[in-house]
Amino acid sequence: MEKIIKNNTLYFDGCDTVELAKRYGTPLYVMSETAIVEKCKEVRDTFLNKYERTRAAYAAKAFLTLSMCKIIEREGLCLDVVSGGELYTAIKANFPAEKIEFNGNNKSQGEIELAVDYQIGRIIVDGLDELKLIESICEEKGKTINILYRITPGVKSDSHDYIVTGKKDSKFGIPLDDEVIYPAIEQAIKSPYVNFMGFHFHVGSQLHNNESHLKALDIALKLIRETKEKYNYVTPELNIGGGFGVNYTEEDSKKPYAYFLDPMMEKINNFSKEINITRPEVVIEPGRSIVAEAGLTLYTVGTIKDIKGIRKYVSVDGGMTDNIRPALYQAKYEGLAANKANDTKTDVVTICGKCCESGDILIRDAKVTELKRGDIFAVFTTGAYGYTMASNYNKNPLPATVLVKEGKSELIVKRQSYDHMIENEIIPESLSL
Ligand code: LLP
Repeated sequence: MEKIIKNNTLYFDGCDTVELAKRYGTPLYVMSETAIVEKCKEVRDTFLNKYERTRAAYAAKAFLTLSMCKIIEREGLCLDVVSGGELYTAIKANFPAEKIEFNGNNKSQGEIELAVDYQIGRIIVDGLDELKLIESICEEKGKTINILYRITPGVKSDSHDYIVTGKKDSKFGIPLDDEVIYPAIEQAIKSPYVNFMGFHFHVGSQLHNNESHLKALDIALKLIRETKEKYNYVTPELNIGGGFGVNYTEEDSKKPYAYFLDPMMEKINNFSKEINITRPEVVIEPGRSIVAEAGLTLYTVGTIKDIKGIRKYVSVDGGMTDNIRPALYQAKYEGLAANKANDTKTDVVTICGKCCESGDILIRDAKVTELKRGDIFAVFTTGAYGYTMASNYNKNPLPATVLVKEGKSELIVKRQSYDHMIENEIIPESLSL
Protein backbone atom coordinates (compact mmCIF):
# COMPACT_ATOMS: atom_id res chain seq x y z
CA MET A 1 0.00 0.00 0.00
CA GLU A 2 1.09 3.58 -0.52
CA LYS A 3 0.67 4.49 3.17
CA ILE A 4 3.12 3.02 5.68
CA ILE A 5 4.54 4.03 9.05
CA LYS A 6 8.32 4.08 9.56
CA ASN A 7 10.14 5.57 12.56
CA ASN A 8 6.80 6.71 13.95
CA THR A 9 6.33 8.81 10.78
CA LEU A 10 3.75 8.48 8.03
CA TYR A 11 5.18 7.67 4.60
CA PHE A 12 3.14 8.02 1.44
CA ASP A 13 4.32 6.39 -1.77
CA GLY A 14 7.80 6.16 -0.26
CA CYS A 15 7.93 9.81 0.89
CA ASP A 16 8.28 11.00 4.47
CA THR A 17 5.16 13.18 4.82
CA VAL A 18 6.69 15.30 7.59
CA GLU A 19 9.58 16.12 5.26
CA LEU A 20 7.09 16.97 2.51
CA ALA A 21 5.28 19.36 4.86
CA LYS A 22 8.59 21.00 5.75
CA ARG A 23 9.77 21.28 2.18
CA TYR A 24 6.57 22.43 0.47
CA GLY A 25 4.66 23.99 3.38
CA THR A 26 1.10 23.25 4.51
CA PRO A 27 -1.71 22.82 3.72
CA LEU A 28 -0.40 20.52 1.05
CA TYR A 29 -2.17 18.15 -1.30
CA VAL A 30 -0.09 15.04 -1.86
CA MET A 31 -0.98 12.78 -4.78
CA SER A 32 0.54 9.33 -5.22
CA GLU A 33 1.36 8.62 -8.83
CA THR A 34 1.73 4.93 -8.01
CA ALA A 35 -1.83 4.80 -6.68
CA ILE A 36 -3.29 6.64 -9.69
CA VAL A 37 -1.41 4.35 -12.06
CA GLU A 38 -2.63 1.26 -10.18
CA LYS A 39 -6.22 2.43 -10.53
CA CYS A 40 -5.81 3.05 -14.24
CA LYS A 41 -4.34 -0.43 -14.53
CA GLU A 42 -7.36 -1.87 -12.73
CA VAL A 43 -9.59 -0.11 -15.27
CA ARG A 44 -7.54 -1.58 -18.11
CA ASP A 45 -7.36 -5.09 -16.64
CA THR A 46 -10.97 -5.41 -15.60
CA PHE A 47 -12.66 -3.46 -18.35
CA LEU A 48 -10.66 -2.14 -21.32
CA ASN A 49 -8.63 -5.29 -21.93
CA LYS A 50 -11.38 -7.62 -20.87
CA TYR A 51 -14.01 -6.27 -23.25
CA GLU A 52 -13.19 -5.11 -26.73
CA ARG A 53 -14.52 -1.81 -28.07
CA THR A 54 -14.59 -0.07 -24.72
CA ARG A 55 -13.20 3.27 -23.51
CA ALA A 56 -12.70 4.85 -20.12
CA ALA A 57 -12.86 8.64 -19.93
CA TYR A 58 -11.43 9.85 -16.64
CA ALA A 59 -13.80 12.48 -15.17
CA ALA A 60 -11.50 15.49 -14.86
CA LYS A 61 -13.72 17.21 -12.32
CA ALA A 62 -12.38 14.86 -9.63
CA PHE A 63 -8.81 16.15 -9.97
CA LEU A 64 -7.32 17.99 -12.92
CA THR A 65 -3.97 19.58 -13.53
CA LEU A 66 -1.69 19.67 -16.58
CA SER A 67 0.34 16.82 -15.06
CA MET A 68 -2.77 14.77 -14.42
CA CYS A 69 -3.63 15.07 -18.13
CA LYS A 70 -0.20 13.62 -18.91
CA ILE A 71 -0.71 10.66 -16.55
CA ILE A 72 -4.16 9.95 -17.98
CA GLU A 73 -2.86 10.10 -21.54
CA ARG A 74 0.10 7.85 -20.73
CA GLU A 75 -2.18 5.32 -18.98
CA GLY A 76 -4.38 5.02 -22.05
CA LEU A 77 -7.54 6.64 -20.77
CA CYS A 78 -9.70 9.30 -22.41
CA LEU A 79 -10.72 12.50 -20.64
CA ASP A 80 -14.18 13.72 -19.70
CA VAL A 81 -14.34 17.50 -19.26
CA VAL A 82 -17.28 19.65 -18.19
CA SER A 83 -16.21 23.23 -18.79
CA GLY A 84 -14.17 25.47 -21.03
CA GLY A 85 -11.57 25.65 -18.26
CA GLU A 86 -11.16 21.89 -18.03
CA LEU A 87 -11.07 21.67 -21.82
CA TYR A 88 -8.49 24.45 -21.95
CA THR A 89 -6.33 22.61 -19.40
CA ALA A 90 -6.48 19.48 -21.56
CA ILE A 91 -5.62 21.48 -24.68
CA LYS A 92 -2.66 23.13 -22.91
CA ALA A 93 -1.43 19.66 -21.90
CA ASN A 94 -1.72 18.60 -25.58
CA PHE A 95 -4.22 15.93 -24.66
CA PRO A 96 -5.28 14.15 -27.88
CA ALA A 97 -8.42 15.91 -29.09
CA GLU A 98 -10.22 12.77 -30.24
CA LYS A 99 -9.93 11.33 -26.71
CA ILE A 100 -11.79 14.21 -25.08
CA GLU A 101 -15.50 14.06 -24.24
CA PHE A 102 -17.41 17.14 -23.14
CA ASN A 103 -20.25 16.82 -20.60
CA GLY A 104 -22.27 19.51 -18.84
CA ASN A 105 -25.81 20.82 -18.57
CA ASN A 106 -25.15 24.38 -19.76
CA LYS A 107 -22.30 24.64 -22.18
CA SER A 108 -21.84 28.16 -23.49
CA GLN A 109 -21.42 29.16 -27.11
CA GLY A 110 -17.74 29.91 -26.41
CA GLU A 111 -17.18 26.52 -24.79
CA ILE A 112 -18.79 24.68 -27.69
CA GLU A 113 -16.75 26.72 -30.16
CA LEU A 114 -13.57 25.73 -28.32
CA ALA A 115 -14.64 22.07 -28.48
CA VAL A 116 -15.53 22.23 -32.19
CA ASP A 117 -12.32 24.13 -33.06
CA TYR A 118 -10.20 21.56 -31.23
CA GLN A 119 -12.26 18.77 -32.88
CA ILE A 120 -12.77 16.84 -29.66
CA GLY A 121 -14.05 13.27 -29.74
CA ARG A 122 -17.57 13.69 -28.37
CA ILE A 123 -19.96 16.27 -27.02
CA ILE A 124 -22.46 14.78 -24.59
CA VAL A 125 -25.51 16.87 -25.35
CA ASP A 126 -28.01 17.79 -22.65
CA GLY A 127 -31.00 18.68 -24.84
CA LEU A 128 -32.41 19.74 -28.20
CA ASP A 129 -31.65 23.35 -27.46
CA GLU A 130 -27.96 22.55 -27.07
CA LEU A 131 -28.04 20.47 -30.24
CA LYS A 132 -29.32 23.51 -32.14
CA LEU A 133 -26.48 25.63 -30.75
CA ILE A 134 -23.94 22.98 -31.79
CA GLU A 135 -25.47 22.75 -35.26
CA SER A 136 -25.27 26.49 -35.81
CA ILE A 137 -21.66 26.59 -34.65
CA CYS A 138 -20.71 23.64 -36.87
CA GLU A 139 -22.53 25.17 -39.83
CA GLU A 140 -20.63 28.41 -39.43
CA LYS A 141 -17.29 26.65 -39.08
CA GLY A 142 -17.99 24.06 -41.77
CA LYS A 143 -17.33 21.24 -39.31
CA THR A 144 -19.10 18.22 -37.89
CA ILE A 145 -18.86 16.65 -34.47
CA ASN A 146 -19.79 13.38 -32.74
CA ILE A 147 -22.50 13.66 -30.13
CA LEU A 148 -24.32 11.53 -27.59
CA TYR A 149 -27.45 12.43 -25.69
CA ARG A 150 -27.32 12.40 -21.93
CA ILE A 151 -30.62 10.97 -20.77
CA THR A 152 -32.24 11.26 -17.37
CA PRO A 153 -33.06 7.64 -16.65
CA GLY A 154 -35.33 8.52 -13.75
CA VAL A 155 -33.66 6.27 -11.19
CA LYS A 156 -32.76 7.20 -7.65
CA SER A 157 -29.41 6.00 -6.38
CA ASP A 158 -28.23 5.60 -2.86
CA SER A 159 -25.89 8.51 -2.09
CA HIS A 160 -26.01 12.05 -0.75
CA ASP A 161 -28.86 13.96 -2.42
CA TYR A 162 -26.41 16.51 -3.89
CA ILE A 163 -24.52 13.85 -5.80
CA VAL A 164 -27.35 11.77 -7.23
CA THR A 165 -27.98 12.83 -10.78
CA GLY A 166 -30.15 10.21 -12.46
CA LYS A 167 -33.55 10.98 -10.94
CA LYS A 168 -36.16 12.65 -13.12
CA ASP A 169 -36.20 15.88 -11.09
CA SER A 170 -32.67 16.80 -12.16
CA LYS A 171 -30.98 19.60 -14.04
CA PHE A 172 -28.96 16.99 -15.93
CA GLY A 173 -29.92 15.15 -19.06
CA ILE A 174 -32.96 14.83 -21.26
CA PRO A 175 -36.13 13.56 -19.58
CA LEU A 176 -37.56 10.56 -21.35
CA ASP A 177 -40.99 11.96 -22.17
CA ASP A 178 -41.92 10.89 -25.69
CA GLU A 179 -42.56 14.44 -26.88
CA VAL A 180 -39.09 15.51 -25.68
CA ILE A 181 -36.74 12.64 -26.45
CA TYR A 182 -38.03 11.50 -29.86
CA PRO A 183 -37.87 14.87 -31.63
CA ALA A 184 -34.35 15.25 -30.22
CA ILE A 185 -33.28 11.84 -31.53
CA GLU A 186 -34.86 12.48 -34.92
CA GLN A 187 -33.12 15.81 -35.25
CA ALA A 188 -29.73 14.34 -34.28
CA ILE A 189 -30.09 11.52 -36.82
CA LYS A 190 -31.09 13.93 -39.61
CA SER A 191 -28.55 16.61 -38.81
CA PRO A 192 -25.75 17.10 -41.34
CA TYR A 193 -23.62 18.69 -38.63
CA VAL A 194 -23.49 15.98 -36.00
CA ASN A 195 -22.84 12.24 -35.98
CA PHE A 196 -25.30 10.79 -33.53
CA MET A 197 -23.40 8.14 -31.57
CA GLY A 198 -25.98 7.21 -28.95
CA PHE A 199 -26.90 7.66 -25.32
CA HIS A 200 -25.17 8.54 -22.06
CA PHE A 201 -26.28 8.29 -18.46
CA HIS A 202 -24.66 8.98 -15.12
CA VAL A 203 -26.71 7.99 -12.10
CA GLY A 204 -24.74 9.43 -9.20
CA SER A 205 -21.48 9.39 -7.35
CA GLN A 206 -19.84 7.49 -4.46
CA LEU A 207 -22.04 4.42 -5.02
CA HIS A 208 -21.42 1.06 -3.40
CA ASN A 209 -24.40 -0.62 -4.97
CA ASN A 210 -24.92 -1.43 -8.66
CA GLU A 211 -28.71 -1.33 -8.62
CA SER A 212 -29.22 2.14 -10.06
CA HIS A 213 -26.63 1.53 -12.78
CA LEU A 214 -28.45 -1.63 -13.81
CA LYS A 215 -31.86 0.03 -13.75
CA ALA A 216 -30.60 2.97 -15.81
CA LEU A 217 -28.99 0.55 -18.23
CA ASP A 218 -32.33 -1.18 -18.86
CA ILE A 219 -33.83 2.19 -19.69
CA ALA A 220 -30.99 3.11 -22.04
CA LEU A 221 -31.22 -0.25 -23.80
CA LYS A 222 -34.94 0.22 -24.31
CA LEU A 223 -34.16 3.54 -25.95
CA ILE A 224 -31.58 1.94 -28.23
CA ARG A 225 -34.19 -0.62 -29.25
CA GLU A 226 -36.81 2.06 -29.88
CA THR A 227 -34.38 4.18 -31.89
CA LYS A 228 -33.70 1.16 -34.08
CA GLU A 229 -37.38 0.33 -34.50
CA LYS A 230 -38.62 3.87 -35.07
CA TYR A 231 -35.79 5.30 -37.18
CA ASN A 232 -33.96 2.21 -38.40
CA TYR A 233 -30.88 3.69 -36.76
CA VAL A 234 -28.43 1.69 -34.65
CA THR A 235 -26.54 3.84 -32.17
CA PRO A 236 -22.90 2.72 -32.15
CA GLU A 237 -22.01 3.81 -28.62
CA LEU A 238 -23.29 3.75 -25.05
CA ASN A 239 -21.80 5.74 -22.17
CA ILE A 240 -22.70 4.41 -18.72
CA GLY A 241 -21.04 7.16 -16.65
CA GLY A 242 -19.02 6.89 -13.47
CA GLY A 243 -20.00 6.88 -9.82
CA PHE A 244 -17.96 3.95 -8.49
CA GLY A 245 -17.49 4.50 -4.76
CA VAL A 246 -14.33 4.51 -2.66
CA ASN A 247 -13.49 3.93 1.00
CA TYR A 248 -13.28 7.11 3.04
CA THR A 249 -13.89 5.41 6.38
CA GLU A 250 -14.69 1.96 7.70
CA GLU A 251 -18.36 2.65 7.02
CA ASP A 252 -17.72 2.45 3.28
CA SER A 253 -17.63 -0.83 1.41
CA LYS A 254 -15.93 -0.16 -1.87
CA LYS A 255 -16.59 -2.63 -4.68
CA PRO A 256 -14.25 -3.48 -7.55
CA TYR A 257 -15.04 -2.08 -10.99
CA ALA A 258 -16.05 -5.56 -12.09
CA TYR A 259 -18.94 -5.58 -9.60
CA PHE A 260 -20.54 -2.73 -11.55
CA LEU A 261 -19.25 -3.43 -15.03
CA ASP A 262 -19.49 -7.20 -15.49
CA PRO A 263 -23.26 -7.45 -15.02
CA MET A 264 -23.75 -4.38 -17.18
CA MET A 265 -21.59 -5.80 -19.97
CA GLU A 266 -23.48 -9.07 -19.77
CA LYS A 267 -26.78 -7.24 -20.14
CA ILE A 268 -25.49 -5.18 -23.07
CA ASN A 269 -24.08 -8.26 -24.82
CA ASN A 270 -27.29 -10.24 -24.38
CA PHE A 271 -29.39 -7.32 -25.51
CA SER A 272 -27.31 -6.80 -28.64
CA LYS A 273 -27.64 -10.46 -29.58
CA GLU A 274 -31.34 -10.39 -28.92
CA ILE A 275 -32.03 -7.45 -31.24
CA ASN A 276 -29.31 -8.53 -33.65
CA ILE A 277 -27.03 -5.52 -33.60
CA THR A 278 -23.29 -5.12 -33.14
CA ARG A 279 -22.77 -4.46 -29.46
CA PRO A 280 -22.34 -0.69 -29.01
CA GLU A 281 -18.91 0.54 -27.94
CA VAL A 282 -19.19 0.99 -24.17
CA VAL A 283 -17.69 3.99 -22.36
CA ILE A 284 -17.28 4.61 -18.63
CA GLU A 285 -16.41 7.86 -16.85
CA PRO A 286 -14.74 7.10 -13.53
CA GLY A 287 -13.53 10.12 -11.57
CA ARG A 288 -13.40 9.67 -7.82
CA SER A 289 -12.34 6.02 -7.97
CA ILE A 290 -9.19 6.89 -9.92
CA VAL A 291 -7.86 9.58 -7.59
CA ALA A 292 -9.62 9.73 -4.20
CA GLU A 293 -7.46 7.20 -2.39
CA ALA A 294 -4.36 8.42 -4.22
CA GLY A 295 -4.48 11.71 -2.31
CA LEU A 296 -3.96 12.97 1.21
CA THR A 297 -3.76 16.46 2.64
CA LEU A 298 -1.12 17.59 5.13
CA TYR A 299 -1.90 20.33 7.63
CA THR A 300 -0.06 21.95 10.50
CA VAL A 301 -1.84 21.95 13.84
CA GLY A 302 -2.40 25.41 15.34
CA THR A 303 -4.76 26.49 18.12
CA ILE A 304 -6.17 23.79 20.38
CA LYS A 305 -9.28 24.60 22.39
CA ASP A 306 -10.42 22.16 25.04
CA ILE A 307 -13.96 23.09 26.09
CA LYS A 308 -14.25 21.05 29.25
CA GLY A 309 -16.95 18.42 29.12
CA ILE A 310 -17.99 19.50 25.63
CA ARG A 311 -15.41 19.13 22.88
CA LYS A 312 -11.79 19.61 22.04
CA TYR A 313 -11.18 21.59 18.87
CA VAL A 314 -7.88 21.11 17.10
CA SER A 315 -7.48 23.75 14.39
CA VAL A 316 -5.41 23.18 11.30
CA ASP A 317 -4.11 25.68 8.74
CA GLY A 318 -6.61 24.73 6.01
CA GLY A 319 -10.20 23.50 6.10
CA MET A 320 -13.29 24.02 3.98
CA THR A 321 -11.26 26.07 1.51
CA ASP A 322 -9.23 23.02 0.49
CA ASN A 323 -11.86 20.38 1.34
CA ILE A 324 -15.48 21.53 1.17
CA ARG A 325 -16.85 17.97 1.24
CA PRO A 326 -17.47 17.63 4.99
CA ALA A 327 -19.30 20.97 5.08
CA LEU A 328 -21.23 20.37 1.87
CA TYR A 329 -22.11 16.69 2.08
CA GLN A 330 -21.32 15.81 5.71
CA ALA A 331 -18.60 13.65 4.20
CA LYS A 332 -16.52 11.66 6.66
CA TYR A 333 -12.75 11.38 6.65
CA GLU A 334 -10.03 9.76 8.70
CA GLY A 335 -6.65 11.15 9.61
CA LEU A 336 -3.46 10.67 11.56
CA ALA A 337 -0.72 12.71 13.23
CA ALA A 338 1.98 12.19 10.61
CA ASN A 339 4.89 12.97 12.94
CA LYS A 340 3.72 10.60 15.69
CA ALA A 341 1.94 8.04 13.62
CA ASN A 342 2.33 5.10 15.99
CA ASP A 343 1.56 6.92 19.23
CA THR A 344 -1.45 5.56 21.08
CA LYS A 345 -4.66 7.31 20.22
CA THR A 346 -5.85 8.47 23.60
CA ASP A 347 -7.78 11.57 22.59
CA VAL A 348 -11.06 12.26 20.79
CA VAL A 349 -11.01 15.65 19.08
CA THR A 350 -12.69 17.66 16.36
CA ILE A 351 -10.30 18.62 13.60
CA CYS A 352 -11.47 22.00 12.34
CA GLY A 353 -10.30 24.47 9.73
CA LYS A 354 -9.38 28.12 10.01
CA CYS A 355 -12.31 29.69 8.15
CA CYS A 356 -14.82 32.00 9.82
CA GLU A 357 -17.55 29.42 9.61
CA SER A 358 -18.74 27.06 12.34
CA GLY A 359 -19.33 24.37 9.74
CA ASP A 360 -15.66 24.43 8.83
CA ILE A 361 -14.97 21.06 10.36
CA LEU A 362 -12.87 18.40 8.66
CA ILE A 363 -13.32 15.46 11.04
CA ARG A 364 -15.71 15.18 13.97
CA ASP A 365 -14.70 13.00 16.90
CA ALA A 366 -11.41 11.84 15.45
CA LYS A 367 -9.50 9.36 17.59
CA VAL A 368 -6.00 10.76 17.73
CA THR A 369 -2.88 10.83 19.80
CA GLU A 370 -2.47 13.96 21.92
CA LEU A 371 -1.91 16.75 19.40
CA LYS A 372 0.23 19.86 19.91
CA ARG A 373 0.74 23.07 17.95
CA GLY A 374 3.18 22.35 15.14
CA ASP A 375 2.23 18.70 14.65
CA ILE A 376 1.59 17.58 11.09
CA PHE A 377 -1.89 16.13 10.61
CA ALA A 378 -2.71 14.06 7.54
CA VAL A 379 -6.28 13.69 6.27
CA PHE A 380 -6.64 10.66 4.01
CA THR A 381 -8.52 10.02 0.76
CA THR A 382 -8.66 13.65 -0.30
CA GLY A 383 -7.51 13.08 -3.88
CA ALA A 384 -10.95 13.57 -5.45
CA TYR A 385 -13.05 16.74 -5.35
CA GLY A 386 -10.66 18.47 -2.96
CA TYR A 387 -8.37 20.62 -5.08
CA THR A 388 -10.99 20.94 -7.81
CA MET A 389 -13.59 22.30 -5.36
CA ALA A 390 -11.19 24.49 -3.41
CA SER A 391 -11.93 28.16 -2.88
CA ASN A 392 -10.30 31.37 -1.73
CA TYR A 393 -12.86 31.96 1.02
CA ASN A 394 -11.45 34.32 3.64
CA LYS A 395 -8.74 35.00 1.05
CA ASN A 396 -6.93 31.83 1.94
CA PRO A 397 -4.53 30.93 -0.89
CA LEU A 398 -4.99 27.56 -2.61
CA PRO A 399 -2.51 24.94 -1.34
CA ALA A 400 0.30 23.51 -3.41
CA THR A 401 0.01 20.00 -4.87
CA VAL A 402 2.90 17.62 -4.91
CA LEU A 403 3.10 14.38 -6.88
CA VAL A 404 4.93 11.59 -5.10
CA LYS A 405 6.24 8.34 -6.47
CA GLU A 406 8.46 5.74 -4.82
CA GLY A 407 10.20 8.18 -2.52
CA LYS A 408 10.46 11.08 -4.98
CA SER A 409 8.35 14.23 -4.90
CA GLU A 410 7.66 16.85 -7.56
CA LEU A 411 5.64 20.01 -7.32
CA ILE A 412 2.77 19.96 -9.84
CA VAL A 413 0.79 22.97 -8.58
CA LYS A 414 2.54 25.90 -6.92
CA ARG A 415 1.06 27.37 -3.76
CA GLN A 416 -1.05 30.38 -4.62
CA SER A 417 0.41 33.68 -3.42
CA TYR A 418 -1.43 36.64 -1.92
CA ASP A 419 -0.49 38.60 -5.03
CA HIS A 420 -1.94 35.92 -7.27
CA MET A 421 -5.22 36.09 -5.35
CA ILE A 422 -5.66 39.81 -5.97
CA GLU A 423 -4.09 40.08 -9.41
CA ASN A 424 -7.46 40.41 -11.18
CA GLU A 425 -8.73 43.06 -8.81
CA ILE A 426 -8.97 46.67 -9.93
CA ILE A 427 -9.44 49.90 -7.99
CA PRO A 428 -11.46 52.12 -10.35
CA GLU A 429 -10.61 55.80 -10.71
CA SER A 430 -13.70 56.70 -8.69
CA LEU A 431 -12.29 54.96 -5.63
CA SER A 432 -8.69 56.09 -5.76
CA LEU A 433 -8.10 58.24 -2.71
N1 LLP B 1 -19.64 11.51 -15.48
C1 LLP B 1 -20.52 12.47 -15.22
C2 LLP B 1 -21.43 12.92 -16.27
C3 LLP B 1 -20.59 13.05 -13.94
O1 LLP B 1 -21.49 13.98 -13.69
C4 LLP B 1 -19.68 12.62 -12.94
C5 LLP B 1 -19.71 13.21 -11.60
C6 LLP B 1 -18.75 11.62 -13.26
C7 LLP B 1 -18.77 11.08 -14.55
C8 LLP B 1 -17.73 11.11 -12.28
O2 LLP B 1 -18.33 10.51 -11.20
P1 LLP B 1 -17.41 9.76 -10.11
O3 LLP B 1 -16.81 8.55 -10.77
O4 LLP B 1 -16.37 10.72 -9.68
O5 LLP B 1 -18.35 9.44 -9.03
N2 LLP B 1 -18.41 16.91 -5.87
C9 LLP B 1 -19.06 15.68 -5.48
C10 LLP B 1 -19.15 14.71 -6.64
C11 LLP B 1 -19.91 15.26 -7.80
C12 LLP B 1 -19.93 14.30 -8.95
C13 LLP B 1 -20.59 14.92 -10.13
N3 LLP B 1 -20.52 14.14 -11.30
C14 LLP B 1 -18.30 15.06 -4.31
O6 LLP B 1 -17.32 15.62 -3.87
O7 LLP B 1 -18.73 14.02 -3.79
